[in-house]
Amino acid sequence: MKTYLVTGAAGFIGANYVKYILAKHEDIRVIVLDALTYAGNLGTIKNDLDNERCFFVRGDICDRDLIDHLFTEYKFDYIINFAAESHVDRSIENPQLFLTTNILGTQNLLDAARRAWVVGKDEFGYPKWTKGIRFHQVSTDEVYGSLGAEGYFTETTPLSPRSPYSASKASADMIVMAYMDTYKLPVTISRCSNNYGPYHFPEKLIPLIIKNILEGKKLPVYGDGANIRDWLYVEDHCKAIDMIVNSNKDGEVYNVGGHNEKTNLEIVKITIATVRRLMEENPEYRKVLKKREKNEEGEIMIDWINDDLISFVKDRLGHDFRYAIDPTKITETLGWTPETPFEEGIVKTIEWYLNNQDWVAEVTTGDYQNYYEQMYKKR
Ligand code: NAD
Ligand code: TYD
Repeated sequence: MKTYLVTGAAGFIGANYVKYILAKHEDIRVIVLDALTYAGNLGTIKNDLDNERCFFVRGDICDRDLIDHLFTEYKFDYIINFAAESHVDRSIENPQLFLTTNILGTQNLLDAARRAWVVGKDEFGYPKWTKGIRFHQVSTDEVYGSLGAEGYFTETTPLSPRSPYSASKASADMIVMAYMDTYKLPVTISRCSNNYGPYHFPEKLIPLIIKNILEGKKLPVYGDGANIRDWLYVEDHCKAIDMIVNSNKDGEVYNVGGHNEKTNLEIVKITIATVRRLMEENPEYRKVLKKREKNEEGEIMIDWINDDLISFVKDRLGHDFRYAIDPTKITETLGWTPETPFEEGIVKTIEWYLNNQDWVAEVTTGDYQNYYEQMYKKR
């Protein structure tokens, strides 16, 4: 049986990953470590926490004593590090927190792993490690910087991060690789494109747009909406990480992407059209709308769900123009391919939000309203 430490799994991708591996592998034990920042919500994983296969610990990846204690108690085989400050806009407002969590937190985990997993030294002085262990760092395509209209990021593209967020993630990647090169600690890194799917916190583009449509609010598109992202359904990302972790290939970096480039404006327009179509097909969904004007037949009207909701607002500082992934390596070496076409993934995602408004309400109590007003008032 393998014991996993999954950090940051009360957040979007980590939670989806825990659900994925618990369903896929019978014989595993998962310890979730999460600080429950504004982005982490226990409600997201509460149904997975059975205290037999899956346990929760609230704590900070920067806390040395806690991580040492957890290693002693649970004897981890794998560490999968999702924990991070993850929102570019917030990194522009408060860079230091990103450096603390994303860089020093990662390094703290690596050091704890080094203390716990060492079993001796080889003839050259390199540590010998417990068998079957792995440290996996969940990284992002943003470490490569910004592309023009042409070209793709490969694993050999030089790191050239441009936002405080991506600079902190690139630094973490370099520390992780330094532990491989210096100590031969078995590490792997995945660099994924933009994810979308269930449990995505509504500060990021797609869930924010869905939330605003349902509330009849304007849909803020930065600049002219021409910036391009490559969107991947979150479960496909989880599958890629699972394949990498179980691949026994040390020191490898894998790009993970959806072959699904879209401009932000396209994403917003597809989201508007899909919400409207789902409400046409299933009028029951209209009950989640906050704007509830009725027509003469007593039906809640939806003709206002159209592109007029779009509002072009002030651009993000240093806004990366385009991200695009070449996933040839993970496809050819591990057999991974993105399985969920965008047209299918976006419907699944929107239906999930329509059916899980309680979750949205739960995660947007507290500071969210304040954040939204501050962040968007400036635009
Ligand atoms: P998220 O913001 O939804 O979740 C992050 C989680 O980390 C939260 O539960 C939060 O409480 C926790 N956390 C933050 N600081 C912590 C700390 N000091 N100690 C312990 N827990 C802490 O983020 P996400 O979108 O799920 O991203 C997860 C990882 O994937 C991040 O490392 C991110 O850089 C990477 N990534 C994200 C995307 C994307 O599209 N969202 C794409 C590629 C890579
Ligand atoms: P986001 O979801 O924040 O992810 P990232 O910045 O990591 O790519 O943003 C995706 C794209 O959408 C990005 O180009 C910025 C843009 N965007 C908007 O146009 N409006 C918004 O309200 C948000 C949050 C993002």
